[in-house]
Amino acid sequence: MIKAGIIGIGSMGRGHLNNYIKFMRENKGIELVAICDVDEKKFENYKADFNLEGVADGNFDFSKFRCYTNVDEMLEKETELDMVSVIVPTYLHCEISCKCLEKGINVFCEKPMALNLEECERMITTAKKAGKRLMIGQCLRFWGEYNYLKECVETERFGKVIAAYFYRGGSTPLWSFGDWYHKKELGGGAIYDQHIHDVDMVNYLFGMPEKVCSTGINYYEGSNFDAVSTNYIYPDGKVVNSQNDWCQACGFGAFYRVNFEKATLVYDNTGLHVADASDRNGKIDLEYKGTSYKDVEVSKESAYETEILYFADCIRNNKPVDFNTPEDSMSTIKLVHAEIESCEKKGEPVKTV
Ligand SMILES: NC(=O)c1ccc[n+]([C@@H]2O[C@H](COP(=O)([O-])OP(=O)(O)OC[C@H]3O[C@@H](n4cnc5c(N)ncnc54)[C@H](O)[C@@H]3O)[C@@H](O)[C@H]2O)c1
Repeated sequence: MIKAGIIGIGSMGRGHLNNYIKFMRENKGIELVAICDVDEKKFENYKADFNLEGVADGNFDFSKFRCYTNVDEMLEKETELDMVSVIVPTYLHCEISCKCLEKGINVFCEKPMALNLEECERMITTAKKAGKRLMIGQCLRFWGEYNYLKECVETERFGKVIAAYFYRGGSTPLWSFGDWYHKKELGGGAIYDQHIHDVDMVNYLFGMPEKVCSTGINYYEGSNFDAVSTNYIYPDGKVVNSQNDWCQACGFGAFYRVNFEKATLVYDNTGLHVADASDRNGKIDLEYKGTSYKDVEVSKESAYETEILYFADCIRNNKPVDFNTPEDSMSTIKLVHAEIESCEKKGEPVKTV
């Protein structure tokens, strides 16, 4: 049985709490034993004002867990933890993850990995020194619709990628601890917090681009770039771009459209669809009369659950985390920093390697 703890039960932490409770109900071999949050009110079942549907909707019986308001005290008293989920504001990811690793606990830490490359490096070095696992919650790598896309890119089932567009956006987060989401030095704005999902996906699918050209705008005082658009420049010339903002009047949405030589794949709020022209021998030529979109069925398992189950499985079977490695997450941080630099230079190309 893997013994787990959670540090931080704000909006996202409550999603993790939901999942751990589900794992226990479904006998997945994971037992949540301890929870820590500096804010006592979080143990009183407040309703999080969160915009990810279904993630933070539980009423919890906290008497079933040992609850702490201080990380050091929790780590002192909880000597049998195999893993912790670190779901605190981004500016605390490095400090708290390293404390846990140094105590010999495997760490699953939410995205973005940390605020800068030095912190990422420190997290990786600390994990190595302690001989413990570290994984960052870049959840799109576990997401059915994005896994299908990855498989299409890898196998070239529809030929090579010609162009790809990724979008994510919605209203701004209003719920955070001390409003850290809107403080540049604590959260890094939409470009750092929300856009990072698509940055990581671009990195996962196509590797590091040679250069990025980004434009961004600051909208909330004290925040960073709250809306951003980036072109990723690759040597083979494929057109890859991504747009993100959290300045919208309401809601949340995510979208991709990827054109292959012989098909177009679209993921939107109605599902995943493919317009498949692979009956053509070569590419879609000017004689082609067109096709129509058909639905693609993919796994509907929650990525927020599968990422934790994967991590726990690595611990249980004494395997390294060789998928979604912390080095991958760190290279995504490097990429987003190049985008920030390009935004600061009003869209000038910035090298990433
Ligand atoms: N994977 C995703 O899709 C996704 C979605 C949302 C948020 N996140 C990430 O999850 C993390 C948390 O985001 P959130 O929306 O839950 O923020 P939040 O502000 O709602 O919650 C943070 C919690 O951490 C607690 N906390 C602060 N300092 C602490 C400390 N020293 N020790 C213990 N607890 C402490 C706060 O009291 C609060 O309850 C962020 O890194 C965010 O980027 C990931």
